[in-house]
Amino acid sequence: MNTDGPFRGRCPGRVRRYARQGPTPGDASSVRARLIAPGQAPFELPYDHPVQFFSYALVQEKATQIYYQQLRAVVSDPVLVQVLARLSRDEARHFTFMADVVAQYLRVYGDAVVDPVRDVIANFRMERTCR
Ligand SMILES: [Fe+2]
Repeated sequence: MNTDGPFRGRCPGRVRRYARQGPTPGDASSVRARLIAPGQAPFELPYDHPVQFFSYALVQEKATQIYYQQLRAVVSDPVLVQVLARLSRDEARHFTFMADVVAQYLRVYGDAVVDPVRDVIANFRMERTCR
């Protein structure tokens, strides 16, 4: 089981460096290549059963929603408060969609998908972000 989230390794060093520093003078022609590189990296599916992708997203959407709610509670800028409220509502809609998909899997496959879902939830970690 991958414990670093399903998108581990999708952020090569040069993309992280670009995200941190931006383009340098004379470097603009390579920006396109840098942006394309992550999409060309080998990608291995981190799960065995399709329901696990939706289970991962289910938890991730809820975690993201809670993050925006908690951040909103500690900021004072009125525009940022409104933006975070909208983001939180948007994440709630994403969560509802994923919950509907996982529920449908449970209706169709029953006990056969309980262990795969449980594995995802028990080992959940937010995916890495580029730094
Ligand atoms: Fe989302």
